[in-house]
Amino acid sequence: MNSDQRRSSGALLVSLAIAVMLLTGAGVKAEDGYRLWLRYDPLPQQMIELYRPRVTSIVATGGSATMDAIRVELAGGCAGLLGGPVLVAEKVDRDGAVVAGTPKSSPLIASLNWPLAGLGPEGFRIRSVKLGGRAATVIAANSEIGALYGAFHFLRLLQTQQSINNLNISQKPRLQLRMLNHWDNLDGSVERGYAGRSLWNWQELPDKVDPRLRDYARANASLGVNGSALNNVNANSRSLSAEYLRKAAAIAGVFRPYGVRVYLSARFSAPIELGGLKTADPFDPEVATWWKKKADEIYQLIPDFGGFLVKANSEGQPGPRTYNRNHVDGANMLAAAVAPHNGIVIWRAFVYDMKEGYDRAGAAYGNLQPFDGKFAANVLLQVKNGPIDFQPREPFHPLFGAMPKTQLAPELQITQEYLGFSNHLAFLAPMWREFFDSDTFAKGAGSTVTKIADGSLYNQRLTGIAGVANTGSDLNWSGHHFAQANWYAFGRLAWNPDLASKQIADEWIRMTFTNDPKTVSALTRVMLESHESLVDYMTPLGLHHIMWGGHHYGPAPWWDKEKRGDWNPTYYHRADERGLGFDRTKTGSNSVSQYHPPTRDLFADLKTCPEKFLAWFHHVPWDYRMRSGRIFWDELALHYQRGVDWVRATRKEWDKLANVIDADRHAAVAKKLAIQERDAIHWRDACLLYFQTFSKRPLPDGVEKPRKTLEEYQAKSLAW
Ligand code: GCU
Repeated sequence: MNSDQRRSSGALLVSLAIAVMLLTGAGVKAEDGYRLWLRYDPLPQQMIELYRPRVTSIVATGGSATMDAIRVELAGGCAGLLGGPVLVAEKVDRDGAVVAGTPKSSPLIASLNWPLAGLGPEGFRIRSVKLGGRAATVIAANSEIGALYGAFHFLRLLQTQQSINNLNISQKPRLQLRMLNHWDNLDGSVERGYAGRSLWNWQELPDKVDPRLRDYARANASLGVNGSALNNVNANSRSLSAEYLRKAAAIAGVFRPYGVRVYLSARFSAPIELGGLKTADPFDPEVATWWKKKADEIYQLIPDFGGFLVKANSEGQPGPRTYNRNHVDGANMLAAAVAPHNGIVIWRAFVYDMKEGYDRAGAAYGNLQPFDGKFAANVLLQVKNGPIDFQPREPFHPLFGAMPKTQLAPELQITQEYLGFSNHLAFLAPMWREFFDSDTFAKGAGSTVTKIADGSLYNQRLTGIAGVANTGSDLNWSGHHFAQANWYAFGRLAWNPDLASKQIADEWIRMTFTNDPKTVSALTRVMLESHESLVDYMTPLGLHHIMWGGHHYGPAPWWDKEKRGDWNPTYYHRADERGLGFDRTKTGSNSVSQYHPPTRDLFADLKTCPEKFLAWFHHVPWDYRMRSGRIFWDELALHYQRGVDWVRATRKEWDKLANVIDADRHAAVAKKLAIQERDAIHWRDACLLYFQTFSKRPLPDGVEKPRKTLEEYQAKSLAW
């Protein structure tokens, strides 16, 4: 140990003591949810006895900030879970050492000569070994960040009470770029944010950096999330000003030890607004030079800056088409500016220009597919999971499987814009699983979205995934205690898009609430059913975008006031006396043809179309005979009722857990579930009363009488 390292480890002892307090929740009075899934409270005594001999000391040498983080996390985490201090040591001098690091940071790990190359830059290996005759657990990686991920994995094993005997685990992330997109504005508001204000206090930065940012980075690192786009895709040019770049650099400094790189949303017209140029035309040499200089300036301040995220020519945002250039012209010009610094450009495919008689579901494909193979090597095309806009259920976006020579990255929405904000309990892993598992048939059977996203189908070099964040200044980060599970699920799926929803739920419950087997199984069931139930009471059988205009909370299938036709629910459901739904087959918009056969044929035929997508692809006659034998109208009504019934049953289930869940979080969730029931009833009644004006049929047996009249539901939105 040299003198620098010694100094740093002296300082470390102090910070370690504080960290241990923080991590173990010492002094935390109420269960406010702040600790997320990183709660390191003591395990049951029999588990402590099992683990204790195997976790006696932490040996994680090295003076970097990331090694500090590893030591703090392992020492604090293990001490908390095992109910007493764990030694931080320089060497293995007893059984039960946990050794973490890289061949560079740790002579011990170097001496093992493990072949680590296959783990890549972020993977890790955890093995139970003998070191000089003593039993130890080694967490090794090529990079310190990999070792940090391994440390979190090890802690997860303890938190979820897995065996830590004979460990032999090798993992690496399947996707390279695993990022959160924050739709945060510079004034502290968050577009589609339901958990308070932005976490970034731009006014105070860079002089004052909220310590909470470290906790944010740490939570992301525990999942392997390695990128964060700080500002809204509806971007303000000021984010790229020298003043704001210094603020972003301060944030990047906090994130760096945790492996989280900063990205910024770039407003395409910034050369005009910030640079005083007359144009932002990507073919104008002055414009290209402005961006190059801007990139140089950013990398001076943030050497590991990730790159630009761009929403161009979409919903009023400027873009290359403003200057009669195309998406490739715009993306590649920006890509050239960041390429010398190994930066990337994430170009969003959320583009849909309203034209008379067009189908929004087919618009992004129409706009972007023709450019396959034209984007630069450091461009990722970020495509939402479905072709419309983060609806409770959508079929997969037809661009997946349609651009074999383009690097695609899925964009998921963690924040629940169309899914009841942070009021409704909806665990989104099953929805994302459905997306990942969708077979595009692009290269025959088995061409799943997962294989496109992880790059294996088309040998894609650069891979990535983004989730629109649900974090905010609320003490519990996400507004609803269970919404934390969606942040967690996003991170876990970004790491491994093959993970089962059940495993993710199980882990999260054990880490966040309890390991009590009965509670784990009850909550797992609730979580796994929750998304389908929300679809039942909001948009069953392929309905979509029938939310109240603007804020998107609550139903308004009658809504037709938006200036753009394709922002109106009536555009999407097309209810008339014949039936309900958007005909996207040959007799309608034919955007179903954007899918490969046999998916295309399956969707296009009313008889084979999965019922969950019926009104997405077809105008379904009210008396269409469903697989259940019931007519479509009756089936629709029963779905709405089933959704309400589920919320009621869930409230009862939750009430039963009053003795196992801490009082604070139990009460908070109970309140949210009461709102969810109110909303589910509102959804059922408002939608059925409205659609009934077309179907002219009675509600089937088993469906409750609406509480209010249609006029009453139309008069007032659920939100405000
Ligand atoms: C949705 C959302 C907007 C957002 C947009 C986007 O339309 O309502 O707030 O800006 O998606 O993804 O760009």
